[in-house]
Amino acid sequence: HRHLTGIYGLQPHEILFLLDEAEQWVTLNRATAKHDERLFGLTQINAFFENSTRTLLSFEIAGKRLGMDVVNMAVAQSSVKKGETLIDTAVTLNAMRPDVIVIRHESSGASQLIAEKVDCPVLNAGDGRHEHPTQALLDALTIRRRRGRIENQVVAICGDVLHSRVARSNILCLTALNAEVRVVGPPTLLPRDIERMGVKVFTNLEDGIRDADVVMALRLQTERMHGGFIPSPREYHALYGLTPERIDRLAPGALVMHPGPMNRGVEITSALADDAVRSAITEQVEMGVAVRMACLDVLTRRRRKVEGWA
Ligand code: CP
Repeated sequence: HRHLTGIYGLQPHEILFLLDEAEQWVTLNRATAKHDERLFGLTQINAFFENSTRTLLSFEIAGKRLGMDVVNMAVAQSSVKKGETLIDTAVTLNAMRPDVIVIRHESSGASQLIAEKVDCPVLNAGDGRHEHPTQALLDALTIRRRRGRIENQVVAICGDVLHSRVARSNILCLTALNAEVRVVGPPTLLPRDIERMGVKVFTNLEDGIRDADVVMALRLQTERMHGGFIPSPREYHALYGLTPERIDRLAPGALVMHPGPMNRGVEITSALADDAVRSAITEQVEMGVAVRMACLDVLTRRRRKVEGWA
């Protein structure tokens, strides 16, 4: 593959290869000296048209730890604000001869569109409600490290699945690796025909998380609920909020995950999110840097090999 626009189309052995590659970077990132200069001299452009804390910073740190010159496009100060189209922006970035472009955009399919217009690898850092592949990879790495394996793990993905690129990429990734995936949420926030993705569907939280090995909470993505039904946070929390009491009673051994950013007190309480034993939320962020280093390294490998310096 030249680009990483989604988990869709990746074979299980390719996903496992990226997870295995990421392990070396977990070790390096825990050392005092965190540099491996194998991508020295390459240029990485991060073009984030939507807000981000985790993904943008971890892609920047990942590129810098591999020795790249990393440039963040400041969208708010860019000519996008003067009406430049996404394609014109892509052609403009390409003319500066970057070696990798990382893009986040509110439109599903934006990263694929850019990939078709540029000469370097493109990494999707989230496109609309379509995919967020590096999030799924970092979640899979977290599960594998904490639970020892992914196969046959029962993973309950809870909440606003309808608007979630994280849920979609996770379903593709975890089912490819033979986990048993459940989606749990109000019917208004579950895509129709989601069963076709090989998941079990639950509208009752207690049924959905019972005896799960992993419980993953999703944020209510009100920014994508244009004109649709927007649940009240209080009512949503009463029916679908994850609390230590619910986990104790229904899935006492479960690992608790959240891709962030969290709305504390809505989809998850602080007591559970900050639980030092059960919550893997900060570990997910740590794995994010390692996974992104692996993706940047692997995707630029072919070009480096062609030029004879890898
Ligand atoms: N999980 C995630 O994508 O977080 P950010 O929106 O902060 O990048």
